[in-house]
This record gives sequence, C-alpha cells and structure tokens, in this order.
Amino acid sequence: MSGSEGKTVAVVGTGVIGRSWIRVFTRAGLEARVYDLDPARSLAAVAWARASARQDERQGFVPVGGAQEESHRIVPCSSLDEALDGATWVQECGPEDLDIKRRLYRELDERAHPGAILASSTSALDMTRIAEGLAGASRCIVAHPVNPPHVVPVVEVLPGAETAQEVVTATLELLTDVGQSPVLMNRFVPGFLLNRMQAALVREAVSLIGSGVASADAIDAVVRDGLGLRWALMGPFGTGHTNADGGVGDYYRRYGAAYRSLWDDLDPDPDFSDAVIDRIHEGTEAIYGPDATRTLGEWRDRMVRRIRALKVEDPPPSAD
Ligand SMILES: NC(=O)c1ccc[n+]([C@@H]2O[C@H](COP(=O)([O-])OP(=O)(O)OC[C@H]3O[C@@H](n4cnc5c(N)ncnc54)[C@H](O)[C@@H]3O)[C@@H](O)[C@H]2O)c1
Repeated sequence: MSGSEGKTVAVVGTGVIGRSWIRVFTRAGLEARVYDLDPARSLAAVAWARASARQDERQGFVPVGGAQEESHRIVPCSSLDEALDGATWVQECGPEDLDIKRRLYRELDERAHPGAILASSTSALDMTRIAEGLAGASRCIVAHPVNPPHVVPVVEVLPGAETAQEVVTATLELLTDVGQSPVLMNRFVPGFLLNRMQAALVREAVSLIGSGVASADAIDAVVRDGLGLRWALMGPFGTGHTNADGGVGDYYRRYGAAYRSLWDDLDPDPDFSDAVIDRIHEGTEAIYGPDATRTLGEWRDRMVRRIRALKVEDPPPSAD
C-alpha cells in the first residue's frame, strides 16, 4: 500500500494506456474513477483491468484477495463530471492529437476540482502547447508512461512553461507512492528521453538489416543476450561505469575516440521501405513462430516483473 492510499483519481480515456493506469492506481489502494467518451471502451477497460488483476493474483504478482480489492476500487462513470467528482489527480489518456488534447484540457480545467493535478500520458506533445491559455496551466503536467504502466514503472515527467513547482513535486511524490519510477526532465525535446534513445538504436538496427550486415535474429540476439541483459540492471552510464576499472570517466576517456568514429559511421537515413519492414517481420516470426504476439507479450510482462522482483531482492550498491 502507498502513502496516497485512499486518494481518488480519474482516468480519462481508457484505451491501451488508460486501462493499464487503472491497475496502477487501484493496486496501490487508490480509487480510480473511469471515463471514456465511448462507453463501450470504458466498459471494456474495466473488464480488462479486473481480468488482469485476477490473472496477476493467480500468478502470485498480487496477494490473495487483492484482485477483488482492486475491483472494488474501480468506479465506472458515465460522464466526465462524474469521473472528476472528488478526484485530486487526473490521468488524461485521450488520443495523441494536439487539438483533441487542447479541447480535453480546456474541459478538464473548467470542471476538475481546483486543487486537482491534470497529468497527460502524451508520448510526444509539449504541455506548454496543450495548456496554452488555460487559467489552470500551472496544474498541468506530462506524466508519460511506458506501455503497459502496470508492468513497466518508468514515467517521464515534464512540466510545461507555466507548471508550478509544487505540481512537479506532488507529481513525483504521487507516482512514487503508486509504485512507478518517475523521471524528471528539465525541458521538452521531441520523443522525450525514452523514445529518443529507442529511436537511435532502432535506426541503426534497421540500417544493419537493410544493408544486409546481419539477420533480424542476429540483431535481436545482441540486444536480448548482450546489451539488454546489462541494460535491465543499469543505464548506459551505469553500464559504462563497470566497463573500466576507473569507472565511466576512465572508460569514456579511453574509448571516446572509438565511439566518435562509430558515430561518424552510423547511417543517418536508413532504408525503411516495405521491403525492409517485411524482412524484419519475417525474421522475427522465424524466431517466435507465427501469431505469437499475445503469448510473447504475456511472457514479457511476467518476466519483467520477475526481473523487477530480483532487483528489489538484490539491489545495486547505492551512494545513500
Ligand atoms: N499506446 C502506447 O504504447 C502509449 C504509450 C505511452 C503513452 N501513450 C499515450 O497515451 C495516450 C493514450 O494512448 P492509447 O494508446 O491508450 O490510445 P487509444 O486510442 O487506445 O485510447 C484513447 C481513448 O481515448 C478516448 N477518447 C477520445 N476522446 C476522448 C474524450 N474527449 N474524453 C474521454 N475519452 C476520449 C477514446 O475513445 C479511446 O478509448 C496518448 O496520448 C498516447 O500517446 C501511448
């Protein structure tokens, strides 16, 4: 249970991301009031969240009886006003479109409790633009999760130009309370941190397969059996810290020229045609078999949680 236990939040927009946020909040003991413009999607999300909690309970990721407790904390709502009633936090999960977000934020700012924080799940939009001209721009902030947030904890937190410092502090606090790992950014860049770094690696992977250097399996293997094993424990700098006896400073000073010459060699504009995409798709199906998307996703979610549990059991050394 968390320090925010008993608080009420609203989840507005209940597609892939909204439904997973429902789990994050209710699992941590908060009441989640759930609303989607499309009532069918809202009902489907509530059913999904309940089934997902039951499956987690069967697999031991939720304590016995926990799924039923989570279920009781979900409040399906048939209007936005009903969802916002009593909510001190709003997790906006509407479509990724600036005009829609701006309209939705206008409504949220007019109707939500004056002290409520309005957090957006946006993957790419700048809160300065979304909240432009709103009386309550100071309470608007980006809290960008990774799919699915009830499994992957990192949330990129990005204030807009007018976001109040207390809102930033309260956002970091609430996200930590509910078991997420908030990461604060100092300013907006397209793609934020995660998608930007992911795009850099994917660009090179696409280039390597497109130019015939290696197969899809070989490229995936160097991540899943190499880079990724370390990256599940540490980031690029933490990993670099273990690559030389003098730590990351020593490592980068010694290998800086090698990195620089590779950067100069990287392909800035790989072939991303249908032909290359087909080659990637067929190569990936050859690893996992046809129609494996769902079972592979379930295995991913199970294993991510087991890795997270191991990291809690055997944490890294810390400066504290
Ligand atoms: N899917 C991902 O992998 C992912 C990851 C991180 C962040 N995000 C972000 O999360 C947000 C939601 O993404 P998604 O993939 O869940 O989208 P989605 O299309 O699956 O869901 C959006 C939902 O919003 C509803 N909606 C539309 N207008 C609305 C309104 N005015 N009020 C209430 N509900 C409304 C739609 O009916 C739909 O159910 C986007 O901003 C997206 O960029 C997505």
